[in-house]
This record gives sequence, structure tokens and C-alpha cells, in this order.
Amino acid sequence: MVGFRLDGLTKSFGGARAVDGLRLEVADGAFLALLGPSGCGKTTVLRLLAGLERPDGGTITIGDRVVVGPGTFVEPEDRGLGMVFQSYALWPHMSVAGNVSFALHGKGLAAAEIEARTREALALVGLEDRAAARPHQLSGGQRQRVALARSLALRPKLLLLDEPLANLDPALRTGLAAEFRRLHAETRTTFVFVTHDQAEALALATTIAVLEAGRLQQCAAPEELWRRPASPAVARFIGDGRLLPVEVLGSSGAGLKVALGAARLLVPGEAPAGPGWLCVRRQGLALTDAESPDDALAGTVRASRFEGGAYLHDVAVGDDTPVEVHGPISLSPGASVRLHVTDGWVIPRQP
Ligand SMILES: Nc1ncnc2c1ncn2[C@@H]1O[C@H](COP(=O)(O)OP(=O)(O)OP(=O)(O)O)[C@@H](O)[C@H]1O
Ligand SMILES: [Mg+2]
Repeated sequence: MVGFRLDGLTKSFGGARAVDGLRLEVADGAFLALLGPSGCGKTTVLRLLAGLERPDGGTITIGDRVVVGPGTFVEPEDRGLGMVFQSYALWPHMSVAGNVSFALHGKGLAAAEIEARTREALALVGLEDRAAARPHQLSGGQRQRVALARSLALRPKLLLLDEPLANLDPALRTGLAAEFRRLHAETRTTFVFVTHDQAEALALATTIAVLEAGRLQQCAAPEELWRRPASPAVARFIGDGRLLPVEVLGSSGAGLKVALGAARLLVPGEAPAGPGWLCVRRQGLALTDAESPDDALAGTVRASRFEGGAYLHDVAVGDDTPVEVHGPISLSPGASVRLHVTDGWVIPRQP
């Protein structure tokens, strides 16, 4: 079953397209990260899903129900979803349990059911022993968990999370990120998690949709996005990929043969003969000291620093593109080096 589906979803604000013909289908129970730079339309997509905005066109299906389409608009409270926004608000005069149970009143539930669901939601986020506390007695991370429990108590089919970790310090972020993974596994709810932090998206999500300027660039599992970026924007955004202009000479069973300056490289990819971008990352480059092999790139060291137990060199290659490569010893700026491309990916380039 689908978790949700967007089809041709479009939304403009004063002539500027915030969401532009978005098509996206996500399986039930997925953990989707909506990833992209600031202003690319992530929050707008969540607000459209939630019913807090009306689109200019397109349809939204949640489960097997069309909630937005020609002549159809299901109100937010009838969409069966939970939301946690970056600037969540708790009622300061209510206890933790009061905040969590608040949304359950008026749903026609018996008092015992409300109490049980509140207890269950607080247990899910590890706050069962703070039920009587007031929000001001909690840390920032605990308050964020109350906001999460409040959404979980509604037992939503779809949980929308807009940068829920953004205003927490790094240690708390890591702890809560692990908690999101556990909660996702335990509740089997479809999560939509908005972030502009690609490392967070890669670590958390089962599926990542990369947006740029309101358009979908690629939607795939983390490893697929990393290994086979569909566009230069995705290559740059995921894992800090660097793009080198190459000429694709042809393909063989072993991959693509590409020319980069004097070097002839064999790399994976899907590009026709002609201009291409070779996406490389530090994990796919290695220094080589072989005497001018024709399958290595010539480069010049610009800087070296000690990082992660080894030296990380800033090297200019090709048309002065900066790349990074690890090595065992420090190198002086200006030193000539040669690099083997152990892993890369070629994307077609418009000439
Ligand atoms: N209510 C609004 N009125 C006018 N313009 C808006 C409104 N909401 C969003 N926009 C515009 O739509 C575009 C997308 O905004 P959105 O908030 O969805 O981006 P975002 O990806 O969530 O960015 P961020 O990472 O900074 O939160 C932006 O150009 C923004 O200025
Ligand atoms: Mg936003």
C-alpha cells in the first residue's frame, strides 16, 4: 500500500513557484527524508500534506484516500496525521501529560482510553516518569519529546516532522535521531522528516527525496543517492561530491571510459558518449605514486590538515576543481600528486 502519493503538486506564492509539479510516491511505513537547501519548498510540501495550504494544482493521496484533488479538500483534522514543527508550542500551564492528552479530548474517546494512550506515548519517548512536570522544568530535548509524544498519541498514519532536531545541540540531536529510528521501527508509521542536513537524512531515512527549487531531483534509498546521483545538484548535495568535467569516450561491461585531461579512467556511470560530469568524493580517491600512469589524475596540493586519524589534502585537479583525498603523511602546498579514482559516477552534461 502507498503511504502517500503526490501527483503534479504545484503551489505558488505571488507568482513564485514554491512547489513545482511534484510527483512522489512513498510506501506505507517508509521513513522519508525531504532534503534540500533552504527555500527549496520542503516546509511547503509538509503544509500541503497536512492541509494547512491549498495547492494550485495536483492531487494528494494518503493511504487509499484522495485528500486533495479536483473538487476534493479534506480538512487537516480529518487526514489522520500528526505534525511536529521546528517551533513547537507546549502549553506552559499544563503538565506534560496534559499537553499530550490535550489533542485526544474531543475525539470521542473514553477517559480510560485517553489515559492509556497518553501513558503509552510518554513511554515511547522515555518520559513516563515526567508526566506531572511542567514544560519549564524540562530540558529542550525533553520538551521536543513531549511535542513528539503529543503527535504519537493520535496514532497517526503519517507523521510529519519539520526539522525537529534543528534547535537542539549536537549531542542531543544524535540521541534524539536514534530515538526517531527506534520510534519509527516500533510504531510502523510513515514518517516524513524534513531536513537540510544531508548527513542526518542519510543516517535516518529509508528513502530520501532531494528537492531543488520546488522540483524533485531524485527519490531513492540513501545508498542509491550516494552511489548513483541523478543530477549534478544531488551529487553536490549528498556527501559533498565534487564534479569534474570529463569526456565520455564509450562504455564497456566494466563501466565508462572517460577522458579527463591526459588521464583515461574507467568509472561506473550511465552517460552517452560526449560531455559528462564525473562525481568524486574523498572516499573514492587515493594517492598513487606510480610513475605517470595514464589512469591517474594529476593534481596540486593546496593545503593539508590532520583529520580523522589521517591527513586530508585539498588538491586542485583538472580545470582547478578542488577535491579532497586522505593520505598517511602531511604534504606541502604546491606539491604535485597523482590520484587514482577508486569510485566515482558519471552523469551526462549539457554541452
Ligand atoms: N506563506 C508564504 N508566503 C510567501 N512565500 C512563501 C510562503 N511560504 C513559503 N514561501 C516561499 O516559498 C519558497 C519555499 O519555502 P519553504 O518554506 O517551503 O522552504 P524550505 O525548503 O522549508 O526552506 P527552509 O529550509 O529555510 O525551512 C520560499 O521561496 C519561500 O520564501
Ligand atoms: Mg522549512
